[in-house]
Amino acid sequence: MSPPAPAPPPAVPPSIVTLADHETHAATRLEPGAWAYFNGAAADEITLGANRRAWDQIGLLPRVLRPLAGGHTRVQLLGRTLAHPILLAPVAYQRMAHPDGELGSAYAAAALGAGMVLSTQASTRLEAVANAVRDDAGRGPLWFQLYLQHDRDFTRELVERAERAGYEALVLTVDAPCHGARDRERRAAFRLPAGVSAANLLGMLPPPEVALAPGQSALFDGLLHHAPTWADVQWLQSVTRLPVLLKGVLHPDDAREAASLGVAGLIVSNHGGRTLDTTPATARQLPLVVEAARAVQPTMPVLVDGGIRRGTDVLKAMALGASAVLVGRPIVHGLANAGAAGVAHVLRLLRDELEIAMALTGCATLADASPALLVPR
Ligand code: FNR
Ligand code: LAC
Repeated sequence: MSPPAPAPPPAVPPSIVTLADHETHAATRLEPGAWAYFNGAAADEITLGANRRAWDQIGLLPRVLRPLAGGHTRVQLLGRTLAHPILLAPVAYQRMAHPDGELGSAYAAAALGAGMVLSTQASTRLEAVANAVRDDAGRGPLWFQLYLQHDRDFTRELVERAERAGYEALVLTVDAPCHGARDRERRAAFRLPAGVSAANLLGMLPPPEVALAPGQSALFDGLLHHAPTWADVQWLQSVTRLPVLLKGVLHPDDAREAASLGVAGLIVSNHGGRTLDTTPATARQLPLVVEAARAVQPTMPVLVDGGIRRGTDVLKAMALGASAVLVGRPIVHGLANAGAAGVAHVLRLLRDELEIAMALTGCATLADASPALLVPR
C-alpha cells in the first residue's frame, strides 16, 4: 500500500478578502489565552483603537487623468531596492499561532518580496530563519529586532549571531523598558504553552535576584537597571557593523537626538498599543518625527507601524513621508488561518490594495505620494 499522500497545505477560506476578514477568522482559530496575547494591547486599549482610527480619519483626494502605465510600488531603503514598502514587524512567539511560526512568515515574506524583522523573542532560532530565505533572490531585507538583555555579553553574542547569519540591520526597540499593563492577558490568565519559548535567549542566565528593601520598587530598583539609554544606543553602534534603527520613537525631540547620533533609521511606533496606553496614534506622530529627523539627517529613513490594515493606509503613510511600513498582528492572523500561505495571502492583499490605491489617486510611483493627496475627514 502506498503511504498516504501528504495533507495539502491549508487553504485560506475564499470568503477572506481583507485583513479584517483574516482577523475575524483568526479569532475563531486561536486559544483564548493566545488571542489575548496576540491581539490585545495595554490597559484600556485606547491607543490600539486610535492607531486604526487615525488612518481612517485621513482622507485621500485623488488626481485624475495622470499617466499610470509602467507604474510600480518600488522603494529604496538602506541601499536596497524593495519591490514594495511593506515589511513584517517583529512579533514574538509566532509558533504559538501556527507550527510554521517564524519560518512560515519568512517564506511568505520572501515569496512576496517583503522585508522581515525577526523578534529577539522569536520562537525559532535566528539562524534557522536566515538560512531558510537567505538565498532567495526575490526576498526583501532581513533585519533583527534587538531587546537589550540584562546580560550585555549575551546581548553582544546575539548581535554577533545576527551578523553571522546574514541579518542586514538591527532594530533596537526603545519603547518597552518594561511591559505595559496587559490587562487582557491577565484576565485570560495567559501563559506560554509548552514547546513555545524565546528560542534565541536559551542559555541566558536569569538576572541576579535583587533583594528589595521595604519601600523599594521591583521596577525602579530591579528591572529598570537594565533598561536601555542613549548611551546604550552608542554602545550598540560601536559593537556592530550593521545599521542600527530605533523602533518606538514618537517624540520629535527623540527623533532629533537619534538623528544626531547617526542612527540609520527610525520606526515611528507605539508597539501596537501594547506598552503605554493613550499615546497618540502613529499616523499623527509620523509627520512630526519625519520633519524633526530629516532636519538633522535629510535622507533618514523613517518607517511607521500601528493599525495599518489597508493599501490606502500604506499610501497615506508614504504620503506623510514614511520610507516604508510594517504590519504586526496581520501576520499572526495569516499564520493562524493558514500558516505560511496565510501570511502570503495577507501580504498579497495589502500589496494589491496599495496598487489599486495608487492607481485611483493618480500615483504611478510612490514618489508621487505627497501630502497634497491628503485631506482631513
Ligand atoms: C509585537 N511587537 C513587538 N515589537 C518588538 O519590537 N519586539 C517584539 O518582540 C514584539 N512582539 C510583539 C508581539 C505581538 C503579539 C504583537 C501584536 C506586537 C510590536 C510590533 O512589532 C509592532 O510594533 C505592532 O504590532 C504594530 O502594530 P499592528 O500592526 O499590530 O497594529
Ligand atoms: C510584546 C513584546 C514581546 O509586545 O514586545 O509582546
